Amino acid sequence: MTFSSQIIKWYERNKRDLPWRNTKDPYKIWLSEVILQQTQVVQGLPYYERFLAAFPNIRSLAKSHEENIMKLWQGLGYYSRARNLHFTAKQIVKKGSFPNDYESILALKGVGEYTAAAIASFAFNLPCAVVDGNVFRLLSRFYGIEKNINNSDGKKFFFKLADSLLDKDRPDIHNQAIMEFGSQMCKSHKPNCEDCPLKKECYAFNHQLQTRFPVKNKKGKIKTLFYDYFFFEFNQQTYIKQRIQNGIWKNLYEFPLIESSEEPSKNTILYHPNLQNWLHDELISVKSISSFRHILSHRHIKARFWRIQCQTGLINHDFKIIKTTDLDRYAVSRLTEKFLNEINL
Ligand code: ADE
Repeated sequence: MTFSSQIIKWYERNKRDLPWRNTKDPYKIWLSEVILQQTQVVQGLPYYERFLAAFPNIRSLAKSHEENIMKLWQGLGYYSRARNLHFTAKQIVKKGSFPNDYESILALKGVGEYTAAAIASFAFNLPCAVVDGNVFRLLSRFYGIEKNINNSDGKKFFFKLADSLLDKDRPDIHNQAIMEFGSQMCKSHKPNCEDCPLKKECYAFNHQLQTRFPVKNKKGKIKTLFYDYFFFEFNQQTYIKQRIQNGIWKNLYEFPLIESSEEPSKNTILYHPNLQNWLHDELISVKSISSFRHILSHRHIKARFWRIQCQTGLINHDFKIIKTTDLDRYAVSRLTEKFLNEINL
């Protein structure tokens, strides 16, 4: 039996019934793959269902306001994915149909090599092998490949190998099977080698070297940033601002913020020029300070949320004034959501 027929046989018996596997609609497949780019299946599923309920087809997504899309995306992180979905939906609707060859799919904003191969094979049965983290892990263990998956040489090697293994008559099932096998059997921690149909031929199992693969460069040290947010309360109103800087929280709303790269003391913050500028001589009382640690893939954030009662309201500012009871209408980061859940307005 070939490698492909073994994993497909396992897949047919063990696959999870996931909604995007029962469709050939490129819109639904694209949406699911974008959600799953940086999100686990269990976390992504309810978002996928809610998204399709709100936008059952690409025209409805294209017509929507970005605010509504961001609100539905709230909590999934990597918000550029939502902005790219909207941008691309508009572009496709204008053009008239979803692109149906690998190169044109790859040209879509927010679609990389993995996602293009997934859409091309799942929606159009094109013979494009997917290579994601699951595939790197499975192939490197099975064949005992020591090549580094972080550099382009190593990547090329795995793409070629994955292509050579692809069942060109059923690339859709082959690709689903190889990823499912990687994620459910050849897991990064505690792989299920005992029940694995490939174990007899698996290099890593036979040498008990499962944890050695795949070989990766160590990542650079992750930076820690210090965020002090201010929840000013004045007459049941508060102040927020849309984040304009590029980055994963672009366009989300947040409270007035002081960012520091070194850990500031509470006094440093209380006498910080930004805060002085917003408050002038305003009398305030600090009702509470809540601390949170928030971990993103490329940085850690130590955040404090200062809940501050104001007597008269801020003076020099370019914030939006809203009723505190309307806070839940605005798309916010998961970090801010944690704070809002804690204070339970
Ligand atoms: N992760 C990325 N794409 C997936 C898919 N189609 N099914 C399950 N997990 C996935």
